[in-house]
Amino acid sequence: MNRNLGILISGRGSNLQAIIDAIAAGTLDARVAIVIANRADAGGLDRARAAGIETLFLSHRAFASREAYDHALAHELRARDVGLVCLAGFMRLLSPVLIEAFPNAILNIHPALLPAFPGLDAQHQAWAHGVKVSGATVHLVDCDLDAGPIVLQRTVPVLEDDTPDSLSARILEVEHQLYPEAVRLLLSGQWRVDGRRFRRTA
Ligand code: GRF
Repeated sequence: MNRNLGILISGRGSNLQAIIDAIAAGTLDARVAIVIANRADAGGLDRARAAGIETLFLSHRAFASREAYDHALAHELRARDVGLVCLAGFMRLLSPVLIEAFPNAILNIHPALLPAFPGLDAQHQAWAHGVKVSGATVHLVDCDLDAGPIVLQRTVPVLEDDTPDSLSARILEVEHQLYPEAVRLLLSGQWRVDGRRFRRTA
């Protein structure tokens, strides 16, 4: 599989950093071809620049529709020969335009054990529900929000004295391990999608 990654962000980019660090450490054989942010103030842009990675600020506000924005994203990603797109805190719903441009080649990380607590503020949702275990999920992106085939999941205990912030911090540590692992697995090509199920073939 093509090992050029395109990483889409909206914010601080700590998961982006985890992928950059794994590549630098030699535990992930990949190359970040471009980091694209839909917000000019996304902290992750500085992380990418510091690592010598090409960055692009592409504001969704400059486009008339979600589809038009996604066409532009697909164009920029293809122009860098991206083989795998990683959403890393990218706060935009994708239209079929982008999903169909990269079939089974877009990953997302979500800070809960999907299908529980999809959508925004998942850590707070889980904490408020009083679950005793939560975690992180990396999944392939399809047209349903936070519902594509699950690639990897890891659990995190919810402690008695947790706040949403302390739980989020514990989940984030796990996210930083899980995302590079999921990218490695995808790039290995040793998997297939069987209905809704992501299955390893080796
Ligand atoms: C993470 O919690 C991720 O699971 C969610 O958005 C957050 C992004 O954090 N999708 P960061 O920008 O990677 O630090």
